[in-house]
Amino acid sequence: MKHAPLLTLVAAALSLAALRLAALRLAALSLAALSLGSASAAPISYTLPDETAAFKAGPNLEVVQNNCTACHSADYVSTQPRGPKFKKDFWQAEVTKMIKVYGAPIADADVPKIVEYLAATY
Ligand code: HEC
Repeated sequence: MKHAPLLTLVAAALSLAALRLAALRLAALSLAALSLGSASAAPISYTLPDETAAFKAGPNLEVVQNNCTACHSADYVSTQPRGPKFKKDFWQAEVTKMIKVYGAPIADADVPKIVEYLAATY
C-alpha cells in the first residue's frame, strides 16, 4: 500500500469539497426561505410622531431655515421663554449673540427678517 497516504489526502480533499457544496446549498436554501418569508409578510403601516425639531410656519421662514439650522435644531428656539417680554428685543439679542459669540455667518440684511419671524412666530 505505497499510495495509501496520497489516497487518504485525496479522500479528505473530496469530502471537504462535498462539505463546502452542502454548506452552499444550505445557504441558498435559507436565502430562498428568507425571500419567501418577506414576500408573504403583511405590509407594516405606522404613524410617525409629529416633527418637533422643525421651525414653525411664519414670515421669512426660508431665511430662518437657511441661517439657523447649521449648528443646532429648531428646538433651541422653541424651548426659549414665551410672552410679551420675549419678543423683538429678546430675539434681536439672540441673533446678535449667534453672530458675535458663536460666529454664525449671517448677512446683515437677513437679521431683521429673522428677528421679525422669531418675534411673530414664537
Ligand atoms: C455657527 C453656529 C450657529 C448658528 C448658525 C446658529 N446658532 Fe444658535 N447657538 C449656537 C451655539 C453654539 C449655541 C449654544 C449651545 C449651547 O449652549 O449648548 C446656540 C444656542 C442658541 C439658542 C439657545 C439660547 C442661547 O442663547 O444659548 C437659541 C435660541 C439659538 N441658538 C437661536 C439661533 C437662531 C435663531 C439662529 C439663526 C439666526 C441660530 N441660533 C444660528 C450656534 C449657532
